[in-house]
Amino acid sequence: MQEIETDVVVIGAGASGLTAANTLMAEGLSVTVLEARDRVGGRLWTDIIDGATLELGGQWVSPDQTALLAMIDELGLDTYSRYREGESIYVAESGTVSRFDGDFPVEVSTQKEVQRLIDTMDELVAGFDVQAPWAHPKASEFDSISWRDWLAEQTDDREARTLVSIFIADGMLTKPAHTFSLLQALLMAASAGSFSNLVDEGFLLDKRVVGGLQQVPLRLAARLGERVHLGQPAQKIRWDENSVTVVSDALTVRARHAIVAVPPNLYARINFEPALPALRQQLQQHLSFGLVIKVHAVYETPFWRETGLSGTAFGPHMTLHEAYDNTSLGSTGGTLVGFVSDAKADAMLALNPQDRRAHLLECFATYFGSQALNPIVYFESDWASEEWTRGAYAASFDLGGLSRYGAALRTPVGPIHWSTSDLAAEGFQHVDGAIRVGKETAAAIAAQQRGE
Ligand code: FDA
Repeated sequence: MQEIETDVVVIGAGASGLTAANTLMAEGLSVTVLEARDRVGGRLWTDIIDGATLELGGQWVSPDQTALLAMIDELGLDTYSRYREGESIYVAESGTVSRFDGDFPVEVSTQKEVQRLIDTMDELVAGFDVQAPWAHPKASEFDSISWRDWLAEQTDDREARTLVSIFIADGMLTKPAHTFSLLQALLMAASAGSFSNLVDEGFLLDKRVVGGLQQVPLRLAARLGERVHLGQPAQKIRWDENSVTVVSDALTVRARHAIVAVPPNLYARINFEPALPALRQQLQQHLSFGLVIKVHAVYETPFWRETGLSGTAFGPHMTLHEAYDNTSLGSTGGTLVGFVSDAKADAMLALNPQDRRAHLLECFATYFGSQALNPIVYFESDWASEEWTRGAYAASFDLGGLSRYGAALRTPVGPIHWSTSDLAAEGFQHVDGAIRVGKETAAAIAAQQRGE
């Protein structure tokens, strides 16, 4: 068992933990990072599957994600725009397939209702403090009604409700709309600047990073060198008011502070001695991960472009509710990516792999034609089966949890601090938020060390 003495021990080498570790190093503090996996990056993972380079986890960057954009710049990385020329596809509940550009091709009355709901959400978000949703004058009221039921109060137009709901339920929190509150939905929208930003895929999925978004954690880890220890899941944290000892298979690390930079659903995977305070134990049990499968299909050519299609498709009633052209810069082939969320993902995961693949390729074929049935590479990113993540994209509160526990989310327990995108305000559930929280957590520790 190797023993290490350090100022700060960071548990988790995702974007958040590595940002915190780099910030602390720049402040002159010594750091040691323990990572459970045999790679860094956590939910950022750019891998080669059967010869195709795929973004298995997070990949897109939007213009408001200024912390991530600054980091990309600082690390000397380049970005490029997602392919989005041409018309998109919409599949209605009836199964009718339509091409469109601009508003969804639904009844004009439904289009008007969708816009009215977007405007209503934008107004609510405009007066929303993303740093303290629990302090909203109507926090308790907004946290006791589900997103589904609130939408049902706003309009009788079922299709309009479905279209608006999907942007937060299937598209972001990846949970059914009856399982989280209006307050949680408002935090999601406010963290992206507005609800309009969330429904604008041109804005939200604007840029990609050359070489993949995992370049960010890879380059951050390279700066830390031997301070990062792979294959070392933290099993135990012994702590008192002034110090902390973290134990993994091969290491015992003694430090003044610890940063637990893992998603909150994994806190209980670590033994804390003494146990964490009651409020903390309760809080953690009200946060849970969503579920989404990211489906990749690579073809000899981006054949959809030949008929003027952008590769963007929506089908709120389809198993694969959204799809995009995900061809990487410089690739001669064409890649489609699609997403299957929450209960639809449960149903897919219950199938055997062959049947699941056949069903999901049928979805791509419904959107883009029968050529989609024959990819040269096919892959499903199933993060729920990953021991060190267990879901996707991120964690959020159940009904009532945000107003009840939100204020305590990032409060340190003695020398133990918490850092991950799941606890962010701006950039909540995104890499931008992981970086922001990493920087803020490190700054708080550095200030404490300076005696401020
Ligand atoms: P993250 O989970 O990345 O890192 C935590 C690290 O802790 C992991 O490396 C894990 O192995 C490690 N760990 C866990 N337990 C441990 C233990 N006991 N001891 C030691 N180490 C331990 N975001 C975005 O901005 N744009 C996008 O397009 C997308 N798309 C997207 C798609 C998919 C499929 C996913 C899964 C996620 C996204 N995201 C995204 C979200 C984004 O990837 C995510 O918010 C951040 O990468 C989270 O970074 P963190 O460092 O907070 O956690």
